[in-house]
Amino acid sequence: MPETMRAIEISKPGGPEVLVETTRPVPTPGLGQVLLRVAYAGVNRPDALQRAGLYAPPPTASDLPGLEASGEVVAVGPGVEGVAKGDFVCALLPGGGYAEYVVTPAAHCLPIPAGLNLGQAACLPETFFTVWSNVFMRGGLRGGERFLVHGGSSGIGTTAIQLARAFGARVFATAGSDPKCAACAELGAERVINYRQEDFVDVLRAEGGANLILDMVGGSYIARNIKTLADEGRLVQIAFLQGPKAEINFAQVMMRRLTITGSTLRPQSELAKARIAEELEAQVWPLIAAGRVAPVMDSSFVLADAAKAHARMEAGDHIGKIVLKVAD
Ligand SMILES: NC(=O)c1ccc[n+]([C@@H]2O[C@H](COP(=O)([O-])OP(=O)(O)OC[C@H]3O[C@@H](n4cnc5c(N)ncnc54)[C@H](OP(=O)(O)O)[C@@H]3O)[C@@H](O)[C@H]2O)c1
Repeated sequence: MPETMRAIEISKPGGPEVLVETTRPVPTPGLGQVLLRVAYAGVNRPDALQRAGLYAPPPTASDLPGLEASGEVVAVGPGVEGVAKGDFVCALLPGGGYAEYVVTPAAHCLPIPAGLNLGQAACLPETFFTVWSNVFMRGGLRGGERFLVHGGSSGIGTTAIQLARAFGARVFATAGSDPKCAACAELGAERVINYRQEDFVDVLRAEGGANLILDMVGGSYIARNIKTLADEGRLVQIAFLQGPKAEINFAQVMMRRLTITGSTLRPQSELAKARIAEELEAQVWPLIAAGRVAPVMDSSFVLADAAKAHARMEAGDHIGKIVLKVAD
């Protein structure tokens, strides 16, 4: 095992150019943790927020960006069960994925689903943990319900469309360009709304309203989402790309028995994330192995080009996930 590794650090808060290559000590796995030799690391919007100084990592997490990776388990800490040296896994990380080695709780590792390569597997953890916990565990989506996801072509959106469809929901999605709308339709959305041309409120209300909305936009969408919900509808908020403040008529929440909720994954306890991992392995991994759900990969960059990967994500033309190739 080498003592040092290549990594990408956030040299100061700023644009993609503040991501610079550095050398760090290889971390040591602690109680219940494994050390991964990273093959691919997923790139997520929260990494860009962290880079810009808008999303501080939890105090115990690595300051290096990177919330998910695939690779080989090369060492295990005390008390690890169910994962062994030599296993290839994909894993949710507390941080630190933009590096040759990273430590993470063994309970946050999942096997590489049959039929996927390591690049595809690195696209899974952050979005699948987020979508499963928010749409199914928190939002309680059921077969036959009308489900609306905003940002349908994002990493989160492409995952949400496929999972909601696989579990029998009627899926509606919004996106900001025709190619993005076409991608959402291909993944299983029965109706895709180009929000530059159509009003999602009108489209969904004509269908009887949305039973569940997964939203990352916020801002002006908050009041419009509430109008869009059917009686007993649920709004699950996972980000506020347009801002977190809105003026709301809460009488609507009372009169139509609505639920407004939301969550962020990263600050949750190790145990909470381990429970999500267990549900994913039992209920979703078989769907991936059967080819019914698949990660959508937009592009791959080498680790040294992490700044280019962030620039691509922030340009907003990508469809699905961006990954960093760290090793073969
Ligand atoms: N709560 C959690 O635990 C959690 C976990 C992971 C990610 N997230 C959040 O989920 C969102 C999606 O993450 P991702 O990694 O899938 O990101 P992504 O691929 O970069 O997607 C962002 C999407 O938002 C849409 N969008 C709408 N309004 C936007 C605006 N004002 N600025 C930028 N984009 C806008 C964009 O599509 P259009 O071009 O169609 O508008 C784009 O598809 C992010 O906001 C992220 O922070 C939350």
